[in-house]
Parts: sequence; structure tokens; C-alpha cells
Amino acid sequence: MTEVKETNYDLLQKQVASLIEDESNLIAILSNVSALLNDSLDQINWVGFYLIENNELILGPFQGHPACVHIAIGKGVCGTAVETNESQLVEDVNAFPGHIACDANSKSEVVVPIHKGNQVIGVLDIDAPIINRFSNTDKVALEEIVSIIEQQIA
Ligand code: SME
Repeated sequence: MTEVKETNYDLLQKQVASLIEDESNLIAILSNVSALLNDSLDQINWVGFYLIENNELILGPFQGHPACVHIAIGKGVCGTAVETNESQLVEDVNAFPGHIACDANSKSEVVVPIHKGNQVIGVLDIDAPIINRFSNTDKVALEEIVSIIEQQIA
């Protein structure tokens, strides 16, 4: 079993808040947050954002290998998070019906919807090269990070 170095989410949330304070440009915010998360989370192989445009998800700022650009709402883990408006914690992507494999290394995944007002405008997506990388603690802490972004873009 691969050891996963625990994330200090209290510190990470403070770092996110100070990194994006005073900034209103969405792409700049998401670019820096994806870079910070990539630096801070152990055992991940992709972290980034998809944004809704013309009723589909389009690839946004990310760190990792090149990824699929278009994801239909309701498809894959990301599209499911948008359709259900609920975070998705996937222990084993191969057991998730319709999972979209952008990187063959990805074994587990967490996706959190991002809101502007009442509308879902995109998702945070993180992939890991090991099964069961993300716990409920990770999910809740990542939802808090997304809520810091939401407050900044509201
Ligand atoms: N696995 C995702 C697609 C995006 S990549 O992981 C970067 C999904 O099933 O929606």
C-alpha cells in the first residue's frame, strides 16, 4: 500500500485565500490554484479545472499531462458532478461507469462542482495514480477550497 503524505489543509486553505485575494480574473485564479494544489498534494497526477461553456465542460487551467478538452454534462466523473451538483469521490475509476480516461495512470479521482450564485460554472478535478487516494476528509477540505474561490469570484 502506497503511503500518502497527509496534507495540511488548514495551511493550504490559508495559502489559497492569500494567493487569490485582490484578484478577480477567473483564469488567473484557477491557474494559480491548480499550481498550488499540484505543489501541495501528494500522490496526484492531474489537477485542474473544467468550465462550462455552451452547455458542456471545456478544459481550463490545469497541471499534468494534456487532457480531453470537451466533456458533456452528465458524462464521466466531471459531467456527473455537474449534473448532480454533488462532489464525486471515486475510489477506483475503473469501477465508475462512463469514467473518461484522459491519463491511463489515473486510478482514483475527486471532483468538486464550482458555483457562481446558484449556478454550477465548472469543476475542480484531481486524479491520483493510486486507488483510493482521496478520503472524505480530502473531499470536504477541497470543497472548502472551492468555496474560497467561489467567494472571490462571486
Ligand atoms: N476522468 C475525468 C475526465 C477528466 S480527466 O481526469 C483530466 C472524467 O471522467 O470526467
